[in-house]
Amino acid sequence: KKILVLNGPNLNLLGKREPTIYGNNTLDYLIEDLKKTAASYGAVTEAFQSNHEGDLIDQIHHAEEENYTGIILNPGAFTHYSYAIRDAIASVNVPVVEVHISNVHARESFRRESVTAPVTVGQIVGFGFFGYELALKALLEYIKRGE
Ligand code: DQA
Repeated sequence: KKILVLNGPNLNLLGKREPTIYGNNTLDYLIEDLKKTAASYGAVTEAFQSNHEGDLIDQIHHAEEENYTGIILNPGAFTHYSYAIRDAIASVNVPVVEVHISNVHARESFRRESVTAPVTVGQIVGFGFFGYELALKALLEYIKRGE
């Protein structure tokens, strides 16, 4: 199983960005850790981060063309307003699990709405970096059930 791990804007700054909300660990750490977990499940993860909406959309298209089995997606702030990312998810035949490091429901009210979540398999929020591991497990289970 080949899983694409897509991180959106400002997530390249993990470790130094608002550490009280997002913690002290870096994106590289997150990606490396997830890779090991994936290996223990017999899966492979490939990670991509971008601060640009169009690049994330291209990656979602790419995931279908390259036969990725699923996508773990943290769209960052695009979650709350990018109809283009939502449409990209809806346009491809690849299951997506949405992840948020922070508990978006316990923060500013604009973070409570996700325009992308309705076209994903499900959403995991508020468990820090561990949310990516939960997302991976959920995605692999979802894929297995569909086989
Ligand atoms: C985030 C939550 C978003 O509201 C925010 O804009 C982010 C990170 C999270 O992982 O908690 O950039 O997606």
